[in-house]
Amino acid sequence: MSVHAGVPARKMGGPRRPGLESAVMSVQIAPSLLSADFARLADEADAVSGAADWLHVDVMDGHFVPNLTIGLPVVEALRRHARLPLDCHLMIEDPDRWAPGYAEAGARSVTIHAEAASAPVRTLREIRAAGARAGLAFNPGTPVLGHADLLPEIDMLLLMTVEPGFGGQPFLDLVLPKIRRARELISAYGGEIWLQVDGGVSEQTIGRCAEAGADMFVAGSAVYGASDPAGAVKTLRDLAVAATAAAS
Ligand code: DX5
Ligand code: ZN
Repeated sequence: MSVHAGVPARKMGGPRRPGLESAVMSVQIAPSLLSADFARLADEADAVSGAADWLHVDVMDGHFVPNLTIGLPVVEALRRHARLPLDCHLMIEDPDRWAPGYAEAGARSVTIHAEAASAPVRTLREIRAAGARAGLAFNPGTPVLGHADLLPEIDMLLLMTVEPGFGGQPFLDLVLPKIRRARELISAYGGEIWLQVDGGVSEQTIGRCAEAGADMFVAGSAVYGASDPAGAVKTLRDLAVAATAAAS
């Protein structure tokens, strides 16, 4: 079952985790196009459009991370062809300069890195003003607590569960306690903030992430490395829903 992307999960699902129904409603899956065939992006987007909630688009500049991927022109083209909303993850230097443009181009969610932003309040507000959800991402070694004052400015908190830059890396278990702490922080704050995990999310690891409190799951190689990407999304969702329900 797919959540309608863009609608706050808990508004649809009621109070957090009272049971299985709410767990089903709050789990969201975002396949990462980084592991897709870049020469067939529209087809690859289509392959998961009936199963996933979002399309995760990894923008890398070769500076903030040691890899170079796609930028605004490709996002604009995807926006015209993809049926799922775009969740743009900006792994770039100077996101203050570039991020609002992704929201203006029609991305429904734009995430900047805490390590890269010089003026996060202004940038997050500009993302929202342009009509997108605003996300703030943290590398595995970056603590979230120092940024707790920014919670009112964000719609999603992204915890990297690998060092950013490449798909197909092994999941870092050391981030699990941070997922728990971030969930506690969000619950104490009380706002409608999604908790996304990105990196090494697979059939083997998604349950641990859900149990720790994540509710939005990016998966690249686990989806596009599978012979049936839509089936892989469904399996990941089922595992996350079961782990979320068991943890409630
Ligand atoms: C890595 C990217 C991820 C990547 C995840 O820096 O942010 O979105 O696509 O790929 P997997 O799921 O293969 O680890
Ligand atoms: Zn990503």
